[in-house]
Amino acid sequence: MSATQTKRRLLIIDDDKFLCDLVAQFFRGEAVDVLTAHRGADGVHIASKTLVDVVLLDQKLPDVQGVDVCPALLKHNDQTKIIFITAYPSFENALEAIKQGAYDYLSKPFELEELKLTVERALKTLTLEHVEQIHAYRSSKESEEAILLGKESGLAEVWRMVGIAADSDVPVLITGKTGVGKNIVARCIHYNGPLGKRPFITVNCAAIPEQLIEGELFGHEKGAFTGAVAVRKGLFEMAESGTLFLDEIGALPFTLQSKLLGALDERKVRRLGGETARSVNVRIIAATNEEVEKAVAGGTFREDLYYRLNVFRIHIPPLKDRLQDVPELCRHFVRQIAPDSRISIPESELACLRGYQWPGNVRELKNVIERSIILRSGDTIRPSALLMQPLAAAPPENPIPIEDDDIVSLEEIEKNYIRRALSALSWNHTRTAKKLGVSRSTLNRKIKAYRIEKP
Ligand SMILES: Nc1ncnc2c1ncn2[C@@H]1O[C@H](COP(=O)(O)OP(=O)(O)OP(=O)(O)O)[C@@H](O)[C@H]1O
Ligand SMILES: [Mg+2]
Repeated sequence: MSATQTKRRLLIIDDDKFLCDLVAQFFRGEAVDVLTAHRGADGVHIASKTLVDVVLLDQKLPDVQGVDVCPALLKHNDQTKIIFITAYPSFENALEAIKQGAYDYLSKPFELEELKLTVERALKTLTLEHVEQIHAYRSSKESEEAILLGKESGLAEVWRMVGIAADSDVPVLITGKTGVGKNIVARCIHYNGPLGKRPFITVNCAAIPEQLIEGELFGHEKGAFTGAVAVRKGLFEMAESGTLFLDEIGALPFTLQSKLLGALDERKVRRLGGETARSVNVRIIAATNEEVEKAVAGGTFREDLYYRLNVFRIHIPPLKDRLQDVPELCRHFVRQIAPDSRISIPESELACLRGYQWPGNVRELKNVIERSIILRSGDTIRPSALLMQPLAAAPPENPIPIEDDDIVSLEEIEKNYIRRALSALSWNHTRTAKKLGVSRSTLNRKIKAYRIEKP
């Protein structure tokens, strides 16, 4: 079966059984299978067992807040499109949901037609992403983004290893907790070496349904299976003379692990339904945030493949073990997110941030900076107010309080911020939505609601 022919799966997590039934009935007969859960934990359980494309997630669930299950849902499939449903629409709720990775949000009560449109949009995005993921070579922008901060302090050793790896073509295994920078290190190895101008193809082994991975990696001949109407090159062939980055390698199904090992050993791939094996010349970089040695000991990851990939190992330490990098990262993200601003972070704030444990590592730091930029008033940001866990040490100084007269509504802040973002990006909606971390449709809705017009 081809990706486009697979029935899409929609999961509704809502304690309102009536609503769940209504939505299930509404989509019956469409090209969508509907699954339902009434508690957050049950929803996450379903997502861990089945590949879910779209989740309708209620904000208030009996066991958790909807927003808190976003990371767990995305952990199982980071391409899942989460549509957040809230009966209490507020900027804060919506912002929080979007920051946690939600794709869009709907306010209750909603029309079923509105829901249908939102789901269709999410599915369309998914298809486009899939096509892009498989066919697009990384743009030159990507190489510009392969800038590793901390290479002179907390990541000095990692950077040294990146240099060695870039000059050779042995397989590299990158390990480290979520958000430490594994993807960025993989890109640095590629773009800093002789293959820099060649393709860099990423495949997220956890994001592609098990039954499709083999076809994606190795390609297929016409007629190899129902739906294989044309020949398709696999990612190995597409990465020819470049790098194939196998992200989340720990999620590769056991049966495919031996096939991958065969391809690496022989430097040849055979398309599904193909008679002959074709030679490929591809550099392999793999990454995992799981403890791969445990997976080997537990029998879920092949030992021979582990040894094949572990030729050169780069382990990225968590941010809490290199807190000296925090100020540099903060300044960089401010410049990256708001390049034309005069935003500054007070020293006292940087000291607070250096006292935090950063369970979500650099990704969490980036998110906190981004949110504090959106929510700031004036040119000073106070990210420490947004940290999820209590600070290990008391902040050295009390944050400077805002004067009563300075307080403006969050809506006002959002409206102004969107206007400024649009203006900074020449009123390009696609780029602005991307920078703001919301979908284009969400941005368009807000532009309409706030009556923002191009001067
Ligand atoms: N040293 C760094 N310098 C600059 N940016 C960084 C650095 N480390 C991480 N980032 C940024 O933080 C975010 C998360 O990094 P990345 O996606 O590489 O993490 P990861 O280890 O692959 O996470 P996951 O295991 O969840 O896939 C990205 O936006 C990345 O650009
Ligand atoms: Mg990653």
